[in-house]
Amino acid sequence: MTATPRLLVFAGSVRSGAFSGKTADVAQKTLALQGVDVTRISLLDYTLPIYDQDLEKEEGIPQNAMKLARLIASHDGMLIATPEYNGSVPPLLKNTIDWLSRVRRDGDKALNPLAGKAVGLCSSSEGQFAGIRAISHLRAILQRCQMDVVTPECSVPRGGEAFDDKGDFRDERLRRAMARVVTALVEQAAFSARMEP
Ligand SMILES: Cc1cc2nc3c(=O)[nH]c(=O)nc-3n(C[C@H](O)[C@H](O)[C@H](O)COP(=O)(O)O)c2cc1C
Repeated sequence: MTATPRLLVFAGSVRSGAFSGKTADVAQKTLALQGVDVTRISLLDYTLPIYDQDLEKEEGIPQNAMKLARLIASHDGMLIATPEYNGSVPPLLKNTIDWLSRVRRDGDKALNPLAGKAVGLCSSSEGQFAGIRAISHLRAILQRCQMDVVTPECSVPRGGEAFDDKGDFRDERLRRAMARVVTALVEQAAFSARMEP
């Protein structure tokens, strides 16, 4: 890892005004204040077909999945802010992870973008449960992909009221929760990067 850690941040929703997007913005700001070199992306720029094993067999891994895989590989870790759909991870995010989990090579070089990579998690919802079911599922999925998921997490309830005019959390407890996620992620990213082959 370079002296300044490089971390990627994105949300699992591309909706305009998405609470998960606003949560990702808070994460980006909090990371930047800790001296991290942050890359904030939107999954809108990495649209992918619904995963289908026949499609993969016939056409290979889509260009956008390869582009995202290379971007992840060029960072020391990432932070994902997920919404909750029907008690779980939204299809946009799950589909993106499923395609990334199929990447094994980039030309003649081995490339496994998720394995051994540090990741921090946030969730949000419009209701009081703050996406806590989705974040548990996301944790399990990413651990299955051999990612180093940090323990602290930040879950934002009542997204419609959670942010002030500057886009910061109104609730001090959420600010502290985000700071804990970010601190743990920066530490894990340094450790995971040292362990990389
Ligand atoms: C298909 C669908 C399912 C949803 N299921 C849940 C749910 O299980 N729990 C919850 O708290 N909110 C649920 N919601 C409401 C979302 O929290 C709300 O739409 C939120 O704004 C979506 O995230 P975003 O703002 O990041 O786009 C659901 C919304 C949709 C569209």
